[in-house]
Amino acid sequence: MDYRQYIAQKLNLDCITSADIVLPPNSEMGDYALPCFKLAKTMRKSPAVIAEELKNSYPTDGVISGVSAVNGYLNFSVNKIGLANDVLNEVLNSGDKYGSSTQGNGKTVCIDYSSVNIAKPFHIGHLSTTVIGGALYKLYKFLGYKVVGINHLGDYGTQFGKLICAYKHWGNREEVEKGGIHAINDLYVRFNTEADEEMEREAREYFRLIESGDKQANELFEWFKSLTLKYVQGIYEKLGVEFDSYAGERFYTDKMQPIIDELREKQLLKESEGAQVVDLEPYGMPPCLILRSDGASLYATRDLAAATYRKNTYDFYKNLYVVAYQQNLHFKQVFKVLELMGKDWAKDCIHVAYGMVSLEDGAMSTRKGKVVWLEDVINRCIEKAYTVIEEKNPDLENKRDIAEKVGVGAVIFGALYNNKIKDVVFSYDKVLSFEGETGVYVQYTGARANSVLLKSDGKFNLPDNYEPNAQEFEVIKELASFPEILKEAAEKYEPCYVSRFAVSLAQKFNKFYIDCKILSSEGDSKPFRLALTKATLQTLKNALAILGISMPEKM
Ligand code: ARG
Repeated sequence: MDYRQYIAQKLNLDCITSADIVLPPNSEMGDYALPCFKLAKTMRKSPAVIAEELKNSYPTDGVISGVSAVNGYLNFSVNKIGLANDVLNEVLNSGDKYGSSTQGNGKTVCIDYSSVNIAKPFHIGHLSTTVIGGALYKLYKFLGYKVVGINHLGDYGTQFGKLICAYKHWGNREEVEKGGIHAINDLYVRFNTEADEEMEREAREYFRLIESGDKQANELFEWFKSLTLKYVQGIYEKLGVEFDSYAGERFYTDKMQPIIDELREKQLLKESEGAQVVDLEPYGMPPCLILRSDGASLYATRDLAAATYRKNTYDFYKNLYVVAYQQNLHFKQVFKVLELMGKDWAKDCIHVAYGMVSLEDGAMSTRKGKVVWLEDVINRCIEKAYTVIEEKNPDLENKRDIAEKVGVGAVIFGALYNNKIKDVVFSYDKVLSFEGETGVYVQYTGARANSVLLKSDGKFNLPDNYEPNAQEFEVIKELASFPEILKEAAEKYEPCYVSRFAVSLAQKFNKFYIDCKILSSEGDSKPFRLALTKATLQTLKNALAILGISMPEKM
């Protein structure tokens, strides 16, 4: 049973949902609380008066044992024995399904994420889209949705003409085969610094050849593409993300004309300096470019075709784009054009924007080849994790394997800990700290719980009428909130709700662990505490799994 939902329902107020019920910072104020400030506006009374009135009419029962009104808060005390029993039974019975739901059954969510650019570096700037998208993908699946992960490849554009030109002048097959994406990128960078007028002209010609289906030009292009994909797939495996479709921009080449025709039919196209645009001035936006004066399509044209294709193919309930906030305007324009075309599903297209990630030393320039490759960041984190483990626990078995889980986990958790729209500065020391609000801290807490369980005989029956003490009850409440946290995370497209939950649960568990004996406790305490430990480990695992992080058994 979900206690926050239970409390909200019994309040019987239209504007109050379980999300309005909070966990008060200290338990003397009750176990759950409703801040009445939001109600003050609509009810035209002071929060204190509202809290007092609600208190008088709230029916207590076997679940809610007491209600009080303090400083504009309505505080609830719950039947601790009942809640503890309910929650522990539910977690232990559901195991790795705890927190999952069927709310999404019958609904499909498309998630466009990572969306790499062929033959360009996969750098630290791609971390957020990859791990936010990856987490949303797992989260929606866990909530019962059908999910389609789409890697909208950047595989269209004049840069491929430049690349072919650079390759013809300076490249050779063995070197590129061996150097892979790095060799390709070097060629591209070299073109941008050294190409003269003549080479620029050649590059345009090669691009035209790709477009017109020339065999040799297309073979080269496909080769560059396959080298890029092979490379990024290695990183996806490490980060635990997956895709169901790699339909990139090029895929829409033959799907744009119907869109253009439709725009014209609906009299939405306007000529502007030779180009075809949709005027968005009435909506306070610059025009959306559909065709350039030479007839070439644009990024937005392909996105219009892609959104339409996704609707027709997957009949999505939601169509998400996990893309940096630099593209805010682009998506606003595209969604507006869809709306003007009369697509009622335009409202289901959502730009899930996020902020920039930079490294502490500030190195993140993509020009002149000075790029921080994401792979290097991950590997460096794994190396550093290995050093830390070696220091803390030199006798540990499988140190390499654990360092990999910890290092990768640190990178992912570091990118998912903050509200996604914030710019973050990535610091190796910070994400690898055992004490901070990190993935390592959560993993370490899990390993600690696991070691307690391994030392017990693993057999216990949950006692029936055990009244949890304060530390135990704090953990219980955290555990109970997990299903609701997941729903809110999905609703707001915010994986950080999940990472923050994991840290908070770990903190509460560690407080309990330090204050209360587990293995040497007596009577009903021991089986109860073992159950609590097991349920915590399970819930931490479930939370980390959604973020794409594994829990090492030992650390
Ligand atoms: N490849 C693009 C970039 O790196 C991101 C594509 C996002 N998806 C989309 N449907 N526009 O900026």
